[in-house]
Amino acid sequence: MGKIKSLEELMKIKEDTLKKVKMREEGKRGKITVAMGTCGIAAGAKDTLNAIVETLNELNIDDISVVQSGCMGLCEVEPTIKVEINGEVPITYGHVNPENARRIIKSHIVAGELVGDLIVKKGEE
Ligand code: FES
Repeated sequence: MGKIKSLEELMKIKEDTLKKVKMREEGKRGKITVAMGTCGIAAGAKDTLNAIVETLNELNIDDISVVQSGCMGLCEVEPTIKVEINGEVPITYGHVNPENARRIIKSHIVAGELVGDLIVKKGEE
């Protein structure tokens, strides 16, 4: 990490750290973030979000939290989601329609195998 250049940046780091701590405290092993910016929603992100929540329920997975974010800036590949498992590199997936959302949960979350054809980014930008 480079030098902190503004108060805003510092607050962001604090916020991110608090989030991580909270995640650990709640005993979650990971988090799925669904980008719900305007173009995400236009591309069907609400259906994606529903499919994620339903699939996790069906499979009785309760150690993964699901949150929404604003736009991730990846218009061309919306809907996008980010999968973060504690201790692993965050993976951003694109074109996540409900069917692909189920695939990602069964493969990445349950079996620990990345879904290579849907990955748009590994790690943070
Ligand atoms: S405007 Fe947000 S990803 Fe396109």
